[in-house]
Amino acid sequence: MSKENGNWDSAFVCLDNLSKSIGTQDILSGVSLEIRKGETMVLIGSSGGGKSVTLKHITGLMKPDNGRVLIKGQDIASLTARQLAAVRQRIGLLFQNGALFDSMTVGQNVAFPLRERTQGAPEKLIEKVIEALKLVNLEGHINKMPVDLSGGMRKRVALARAMITHPELMLYDEPTAGLDPVASGAIDKLILQMQENYGVTSVVVTHDMKSAEKIADRIAFLHKGRVYFCGTPEELRDCGDSVVTNFISGHSGLPS
Ligand SMILES: Nc1ncnc2c1ncn2[C@@H]1O[C@H](COP(=O)(O)OP(=O)(O)OP(=O)(O)O)[C@@H](O)[C@H]1O
Ligand SMILES: [Mg+2]
Repeated sequence: MSKENGNWDSAFVCLDNLSKSIGTQDILSGVSLEIRKGETMVLIGSSGGGKSVTLKHITGLMKPDNGRVLIKGQDIASLTARQLAAVRQRIGLLFQNGALFDSMTVGQNVAFPLRERTQGAPEKLIEKVIEALKLVNLEGHINKMPVDLSGGMRKRVALARAMITHPELMLYDEPTAGLDPVASGAIDKLILQMQENYGVTSVVVTHDMKSAEKIADRIAFLHKGRVYFCGTPEELRDCGDSVVTNFISGHSGLPS
């Protein structure tokens, strides 16, 4: 366990025994996980098992009933609203559904997080938007409306919007869901580039085991409200545990 405000380098994000019930349903029942600085942690598990809820705890959008979320050694529950907002500014979040603003152009969507935060010169803003769109190979589409884009392009715009503030921590919720293999591969490549070029720490929720194996330094398997297994893709493949093996081989479609 990392020491609060001390040497947090080994765990950029530390989930310490998180539990969360919503209504009568226990969603998280003691989730513990350390995500190291610069690593890509992939989170897998059954549908409805609490992966998105776990991401929401990392951003502070949801609060645990018990347990702590430490970011760089700091318990986010101890932060003031202003301090938490500052931490959130360093986190890029790609929502499960992309969530673009339909009434805004691609460029306006991507610019949104910066407009919210700074009153910089418009030329500078446009420069940054183009730079972010270049990363996702969409610089030629800046004036289009989201409705005129394919699903994969919308995901990439959402990614550009999440990356424009150069976050230290990226949270991706199902970035490749519903995309064809080429579009999925492009997103995987981007996630890897973010890590290699900017040293970004990432948590990626996915059902796509091929993508998981490509991008993950480690994979955490969420099962029955806990991290049942956490290890490298090889360790996961070779662990020999029947619950893990059944999940990976596709016998896990049913809720746990
Ligand atoms: N705001 C909420 N209010 C009520 N229940 C919620 C809320 N958010 C999540 N839940 C419930 O918590 C459980 C876990 O949801 P979550 O979205 O984390 O699943 P998931 O693992 O991300 O699933 P999927 O792979 O289908 O996206 C579900 O039963 C869901 O209905
Ligand atoms: Mg989800």
